Amino acid sequence: MKIEAENINFLDTIEAAQSVEELEQARVGLLGKKGEVTHLLRSLGQMNDEERKLKSPQYNKLKQTLEEAIKEKREVLVNREIENRMDSEWLDITQDSREINTGLIHPVSRVTEEIVSIFSDLGFSVAEGPQIESDWYNFDSLNIPPDHPARQEFDTFYINPGDDNGNDSISPNVLRTHTSPVQVRFMENHGAPCRIIAPGRVYRSDYDLTHTPMFHQIEGLVVGEDISMSNLKWVLIEFCKAFFELESIDLRFRASHFPFTEPSAEVDIRCSWVENSLVVGKGDDWMEILGSGMVHPNVLEAAKVDSNKFQGFAFGMGIDRLAMLKYGMPDLRSFFENDMRWLKHYGFAVEKTSNLYDKLSG
Ligand code: DAH
Repeated sequence: MKIEAENINFLDTIEAAQSVEELEQARVGLLGKKGEVTHLLRSLGQMNDEERKLKSPQYNKLKQTLEEAIKEKREVLVNREIENRMDSEWLDITQDSREINTGLIHPVSRVTEEIVSIFSDLGFSVAEGPQIESDWYNFDSLNIPPDHPARQEFDTFYINPGDDNGNDSISPNVLRTHTSPVQVRFMENHGAPCRIIAPGRVYRSDYDLTHTPMFHQIEGLVVGEDISMSNLKWVLIEFCKAFFELESIDLRFRASHFPFTEPSAEVDIRCSWVENSLVVGKGDDWMEILGSGMVHPNVLEAAKVDSNKFQGFAFGMGIDRLAMLKYGMPDLRSFFENDMRWLKHYGFAVEKTSNLYDKLSG
């Protein structure tokens, strides 16, 4: 009787298991090394013959019953766990996929790419220079000596004096105020002839609707043995037609002055204001878009290029300004404020950029 009662007790323990893990715990508790039933079976050794004869079949039967019950219960639990998993991991493959949110291309990156592609087609390669520049490359080498008034016009950010080793006796370092120093660095390293553009960040202490302390310029330089102002004109006209996507374009080359070019010209593009927005290509107004000229012999010599043998032309333009003109963005400051609403409005989808490449290479 006692055994039967225990039997029922043991079976209850098995029945109560809610998971394969709990069942295993129950099994160990009953039939494991230190389990209750194992303990009963061991106790047979201490019994006299008569008692053992009586108990042994009961205990073994009990063990067998429990083993069978555990096996059955395990099947039930394993199946239930599989069903639960199938329920919880159910996947609706007919549901619409979630919209993929890719970032947008910033107008400055996009316009830089556009400009670089156009000049690449004209045979220019891309050069780069440091943003922390020595006073020598930013000014002196470009024919702007220390007492030259043009230094005042630049609103320069000066930083710690000295070269990389901190012992330059000539000059402090500056955040470059223009991309023109790349001209000198490139000629010094590669000599002449050359045909390069140099896009990058430049810095001036200035802040209003059309000025930010950091902005972007692109510099152009062509040096050879037979380079003239008419080459400069042709390149700039071709560039403007391609950039503004116009069949023909009206540019005005206006005499100007830069220390690093002689003669120098500023270039204006014909435009008009229609309902407060700017239309490039037609109208009675002019908008200045770049500075240019024939490279001053002093600049060639500073870069160790023989100015009796070589001449060149150079130009520099504001990338952000070109972006504002082409895509009608009124305030330069918003370019760099990281306002998501502005970025979403003026940013370019990635596909559009690749279409541009197709168009330009096709
Ligand atoms: N460096 C000039 C500036 O930042 C722009 C410029 C004018 C660059 C004439 C040139 C050039 O290469 O020939 O205002």
